[in-house]
Amino acid sequence: MRSVQDLLAGLIPPGAAACASAATVAHEQGGPAALPEEAGLVGPELSPRRFQSLLARDCARTALARIGVRPVAIPRGPTGAPVWPDGVVGSLTHTTGLQAAVVGPRSVYAGLGIDVEPCHRLRPGVARTFAAPVELAGAAEVLGDAGPLAVFCAKEAAFKAWFPSTGAWMSMTDVTVAFTPDGTFDVRVRARGASPDRATVLVGGRAAVRDGFVVAVAERVSRVLDSSSLGTVFHPASAAGPSQDLRGADVPASAS
Ligand SMILES: CC(C)(COP(=O)(O)OP(=O)(O)OC[C@H]1O[C@@H](n2cnc3c(N)ncnc32)[C@H](O)[C@@H]1OP(=O)(O)O)[C@@H](O)C(=O)NCCC(=O)NCCS
Repeated sequence: MRSVQDLLAGLIPPGAAACASAATVAHEQGGPAALPEEAGLVGPELSPRRFQSLLARDCARTALARIGVRPVAIPRGPTGAPVWPDGVVGSLTHTTGLQAAVVGPRSVYAGLGIDVEPCHRLRPGVARTFAAPVELAGAAEVLGDAGPLAVFCAKEAAFKAWFPSTGAWMSMTDVTVAFTPDGTFDVRVRARGASPDRATVLVGGRAAVRDGFVVAVAERVSRVLDSSSLGTVFHPASAAGPSQDLRGADVPASAS
């Protein structure tokens, strides 16, 4: 299995930083403790859900350090969205065996989102509840059997990049995901009755299948950085050592 750092390689937009961990150890075996401000996390003490939330927050603090922000508590806000320090946007995701965070400067990104799901084949008909046939076919061309799950992850990552800055709820079927062959995607919303070419691009991102997980990272851009800027992926285990700098893909200029 590749390093957990590599799991996010090529998915982080310029100027942002990310961190992942693949911990599965139970909380009572020595997991991280909640900071006092994080007392409102979901799940009872010592539950796997809460343990994953705490690990994701540890990833976030490591990623924050990479963009020069002092590590702080990351409480859960009233809508469920994480509360970031001033000047920062970001997102958390966690599942059994993988936790991750992405953060970036608010001067560049209006919002960032990340989502992971363990690869599994969706039951027939399930994908149709969150995506149109054209979205599913487009994703399958790029990501094969993982296409439907990638559409789901792309929509969840887009929601996390969109909701905290707008407060506007979007259901899965309000938005359309279109993949391009390199794994980048646009998420568009279309007013009822409008033709597809009148859809507005809300969020851009990229998705990949890595070590049994579908991973999607989305960004809502407020300022486009030039393509020489680097996205940074960082792993807590190497916090004291050199980080691995990874060239982020160009941010779609239309994703604003
Ligand atoms: C909120 C939601 C996206 C979380 O995704 P998930 O796959 O269930 O869980 P993940 O582990 O990936 O992410 C959990 C994290 O999402 C974040 N989150 C929760 N609500 C959020 C919100 N309103 N906005 C941004 N992030 C949110 C939290 O950080 C949470 O972690 P925490 O509980 O430890 O603080 C999902 O439950 C949801 O409500 N989706 C419906 C809306 C949607 O996706 N629409 C798609 C069209 S764009």
